[in-house]
Formats: sequence, C-alpha cells, structure tokens
Amino acid sequence: MGSSTGKTIQATGLTALGLLLALGCGGTGATTTPGSTPASSAATAPGVAEYLTLDLATFSNYAQPTFPVHYDSQALVTDNQLPTNVVTDRGATLGRVLFHDRRLSVSDTLSCASCHQQSLGMGDSATFSAGFAPGLVTAAHAMRLHNARFYAPGTMFWDKRAPSLEFQTTQPIQSSVEMGFDAAHGGISALLTKMQSLPYYPELFKAVYGDAAITEDRMQKALAQYVRSMVSTHSRWDDGAALTYNPAVPGKGAGAPKPNFTASENRGQQLFFTGKADGGAGCIACHTAPTFALAPNSLSNGVTAGDPDIYKSPSLKGVSATGPYMHNGSLATLEAVVDHYDHGIQDGPALDPRLRGPNGLPQRLNLSAADRAALVDFMKTLQDPALATDPRFSNPFKK
Ligand code: HEC
Ligand code: HEC
Repeated sequence: MGSSTGKTIQATGLTALGLLLALGCGGTGATTTPGSTPASSAATAPGVAEYLTLDLATFSNYAQPTFPVHYDSQALVTDNQLPTNVVTDRGATLGRVLFHDRRLSVSDTLSCASCHQQSLGMGDSATFSAGFAPGLVTAAHAMRLHNARFYAPGTMFWDKRAPSLEFQTTQPIQSSVEMGFDAAHGGISALLTKMQSLPYYPELFKAVYGDAAITEDRMQKALAQYVRSMVSTHSRWDDGAALTYNPAVPGKGAGAPKPNFTASENRGQQLFFTGKADGGAGCIACHTAPTFALAPNSLSNGVTAGDPDIYKSPSLKGVSATGPYMHNGSLATLEAVVDHYDHGIQDGPALDPRLRGPNGLPQRLNLSAADRAALVDFMKTLQDPALATDPRFSNPFKK
C-alpha cells in the first residue's frame, strides 16, 4: 500500500498529521479517537435509523487515509488540517450527513451536494448553479472539492476570501443565493433551531461530541473534516505514479512516463510537466504534482482582459468530470482551456509573469494540434473513479 511513513511526516514538523499517521497505517474502519465517547448503538438512535442509512455502532474510516508513495513528505506538508480539528471517523460522518442534507437550506431543496456532486468531481455541470429559490443562480462557477485539503490557509473560494475550510463551510448556508439562511431568514440561529427539531441531529451530535448541543462551530468542524477527506489518490495518473515514483532516481519523479498511459497521454504529461524554455507548456509551475492543487504564488491566468483580481484554481484532480472551466465558467471544454493557454491569454495587471512570452506579452505557445490533444488526454487521466463512487461520499439519506 506504500503509505508515507511516520518518519518522513515528523520531519515536516506537522504534528497533527504525524500523530495521525503514527496511530498506524492500515487501520480498520471503526477507529475511536482518544477522548471521544463510546459508540451508542443504532437501537438507541431511532431518529438516525429512520432517516439515514448509517449505523452508529460502526463508522467508516476517514481518520486514516492511505497516501500512496508519491504523496511524499513535500506533498503532505501542504495539508491544511488544523491541530484543533483533526479528522475523526465520527466527525467526518456527521459532515457527510450535513453535506447531503437538503434541510440545511431554507427551502428544503438544496444541499451542499446539489452543487458539489460526487459523480462530477464534487462540482457542477451548470455554469452557475441554481440557488434555493427559483431564478437565483450563483455568481461564480461551483468549484470541485478534490484535494481542497492541500491549500494553504486563507485560500478558500475562487478569490481566496475565506480564511479556512472551517469558516468557509457555513458561508453557503448563510448565502442569500445558495441555501438561504441569511439575516432575512433568521440567520444561522434559525437553522440551528430547525436542526434541534430534526430527530437525527441531536443523536448524531451526541455520538460525535458527547452531548447533543448543535452549534455553528461544531457544524463547521464536521463539514471541514468531511471535505478534507475528499483526497484523490486513485486516478490513472496516481496508479501510474505509484508504479514509477522514486525521487532518488533521476527521471523517476512525478512526471516520469507512465506504463499505464497511451503515447498521447504520456506526451501530454511531458508537455504539462516541462518548462516552456525546454519545449513544454509549463503547467506544472502552478498546478503542482501530486495533488494538482494550485501553487500558492500563482497570480492570474488571464481569463479576462484587464482584470486586476487574482483567482485560485481547484485541484485539477477530476477536472474532466464536467466543464465549464474557470471562475466565470467561460471555457466550456478542456480543449478550450488548452486553446486559452496556447493562444488566448489576455493581458492585465494581475497576469502571472510565467504566462508571458520572452517579448513580455501574453504567451503564445503555438502547439501542434496533436500536442494540444495530448494535453487534454493527459488531463483526463486525473479523473478519479474511486472517489466518484466511494460509498463514504454518497448520500446517506433514506428520506
Ligand atoms: C448553490 C450551489 C452551492 C451550494 C448549495 C454549495 N456550494 Fe460550495 N461552492 C459553490 C460555488 C459557486 C463556489 C465558488 C464560490 C466563490 O468562489 O465565490 C463554491 C465553493 C466552495 C468551496 C471552496 C473550494 C475551494 O477550493 O476554495 C468549498 C469548500 C465549498 N464550496 C463547500 C460547500 C459546502 C460545505 C456546502 C454546504 C454547506 C456548499 N459548498 C454548498 C456552490 C455551492
Ligand atoms: C501562472 C500559473 C498558471 C499556469 C502556468 C497554468 N495555470 Fe491553469 N490555472 C491558473 C489559475 C490561476 C486558474 C484559475 C483561473 C480562474 O478561474 O480565473 C487556472 C485554471 C485552470 C483550469 C481550470 C480549472 C477549473 O476548475 O476551472 C485548467 C483545466 C487549467 N488551469 C489547466 C492548465 C494547463 C493545461 C496549463 C498549461 C498549459 C496551465 N493550466 C498553466 C494558473 C495557471
């Protein structure tokens, strides 16, 4: 299984993660976190049994993800898990319920999963997602959530306005477009009252936190644990990397040719991973391996001429599950994205210097049609069918 060792993790100084892995790789599903209360049986939780397919006697494993060998210490140091909110099986299970619960919207129609669909890379095919009431749509395209765990604090949302994943998670609930618990609808406290009256939440909060109190802080922690568990390690790219990765051997890094790839996919990978000065397309400078999260120092990629704002990109894991692309959903397909980098970049004050040519103007790669197709083929290998069908991220509701 090739999980990273406790030794490499400790070298990073990330104590929470070190502790987590030191607890043991290959842990079984039902892990009890130190300090958490013993499991109450499903029989004593009639509300949970009535509404959900969960059994409070056994919890799925979220606390001990198995990272493949190419998720090395350098990758894991970018884990944004907080020491005050380490992922537990119970906490993430509560997060799963919250994430899929349409009753968290004013209209009982929208859950987080409505816009972050498991089969669509935890994203949405609509350019702008429908809100809680007819006619309302989001101002930006819904983001995929794969590997949100590997972004520095202060980078949540396209424009990086949310300081943490914890803080982010209850923003859509209070949005007057998305889930509707804005000031006019009583705010988060109206939702907390609603949740108290739903039979399953007091039981679930008790199973996770030891008492039935439902608070925004507890919701944020559980939702953030769940989103952090959406780690993508089983794309075809990962399968190939697991076979080839050996950073000690020149040519066997993350960008090494993959035995399970077609010639075009390997060519696309080479273009993606090679700098422009060496005949590549230079994508890896910003979309970093193995997480394909965006480098923290990335500036704009020139989607709109003259735009002074800087946006992030979600991890490219699962990117081919559905378009459209970019914060404004302006590029419908991956082919259009490659055309953008090839000859469509617009100039503006925030354009990243790495996307300029030697003449200082926005780059023109002038790739051949075969190379453009190869880049698209490569990005499709980042699709993660295991995550798209993992029962731990499916809808747990019976009704
Ligand atoms: C109506 C559609 C919709 C709903 C419902 C919704 N989201 Fe989102 N989500 C979006 C959009 C659109 C964005 C990008 C918004 C922006 O940047 O302004 C986003 C962004 C995010 C991000 C930021 C990802 C990143 O990498 O920065 C996270 C995390 C997230 N949503 C989690 C949630 C959670 C948790 C819920 C439920 C409590 C939820 N979303 C409900 C549409 C939705
Ligand atoms: C200088 C940094 C940088 C480089 C180099 C770069 N990108 Fe990006 N990329 C970004 C940023 C920033 C965004 C998000 C922009 C937005 O939404 O406004 C993005 C978005 C994307 C998206 C859309 C993601 C989504 O979920 O909508 C894809 C696909 C993508 N880039 C592929 C590539 C490819 C292929 C290359 C190489 C040809 C490349 N990028 C080079 C910074 C970069």
